[in-house]
Amino acid sequence: MTTLITGASGAVGGAVLRALHAAGHPLRASSRRPERLSLPVGVEAVPLDLARPDTVAAAFDGVDQVFLYAEPGGIDELIRAAETAGVRHVVLLSSSAVLSPDAESQPLGRHHLLVERALRRSDLDATLLRPGSFAGNAHGWAHPIRAGGPVELPYPQARMAPIHEADIADVAVVALTGAARTGREVTLTGPEALTLGEQVGQIAARLGRDIPVRELSRAEAERQWSRFMPADLAASLLDYQAGQVGVTPEITDAAQFTGRPARTFGQWVDEHLDAFRPG
Ligand SMILES: NC(=O)c1ccc[n+]([C@@H]2O[C@H](COP(=O)([O-])OP(=O)(O)OC[C@H]3O[C@@H](n4cnc5c(N)ncnc54)[C@H](OP(=O)(O)O)[C@@H]3O)[C@@H](O)[C@H]2O)c1
Repeated sequence: MTTLITGASGAVGGAVLRALHAAGHPLRASSRRPERLSLPVGVEAVPLDLARPDTVAAAFDGVDQVFLYAEPGGIDELIRAAETAGVRHVVLLSSSAVLSPDAESQPLGRHHLLVERALRRSDLDATLLRPGSFAGNAHGWAHPIRAGGPVELPYPQARMAPIHEADIADVAVVALTGAARTGREVTLTGPEALTLGEQVGQIAARLGRDIPVRELSRAEAERQWSRFMPADLAASLLDYQAGQVGVTPEITDAAQFTGRPARTFGQWVDEHLDAFRPG
């Protein structure tokens, strides 16, 4: 029973691939640039651009299950190709953004909703994983921290429960192997609620030095973030952070599915501390 891992070069997809490979499952890995993948011996790499339906059929040939990244462009053609190939189960890396009351009108909510809906309309058995903020978003602070400057945050008091990408992967593995029942819609958080300021503080404590935080105005943040992403996405992410100020997020961590304690943000920092060190 072969499982295709899309996003095999990504943090979550890569962790799914390593975990399934370690458990001896037959795998195929895909990327838009498969020649760049560094894969365990015996895992085949195939080209697949989820936004280009013409690349899908060959990648799905002989595949029973797919770990899928969300890409709404071409999703109907992708589902048809999966059905034709005899794929029976798709585990989607979706987002808790779909749960927001205004998900339909936000770029992130809509992006993931379109894929979820297309899967629900299909004959495929679909498991929808809906994680909240990833611990790995802290990579965005690596450059200023390495440079010794302040971390600039519009909402340092925004509180969320960052999830370690390996925990999302472990739940995906549970769903793909049938090791336990996950249900069809799985909302996932990390094990503890931390403000963004507290997350910076955890990195500082492990580096053994102070990391100043400079509070940005909303207008400054919109200007800065719009250099790296579409303005509507920047605005929607800022709205999300603003909405997390004074909120205590509900914790629904991976432990309920894996039977192991969920990984903490501190554990993620320990594993990635070199990214925050100069040089
Ligand atoms: N960051 C968060 O807080 C958050 C929260 C909830 C959900 N999510 C979801 O998680 C995803 C990010 O996961 P991650 O951190 O594991 O990713 P990542 O490490 O940032 O890597 C991105 C992956 O997406 C793949 N990809 C992008 N466009 C593609 C396309 N058109 N066709 C095929 N593959 C494509 C890339 O594959 P190649 O470049 O190798 O082709 C790469 O493996 C987001 O896109 C979002 O859907 C994120």
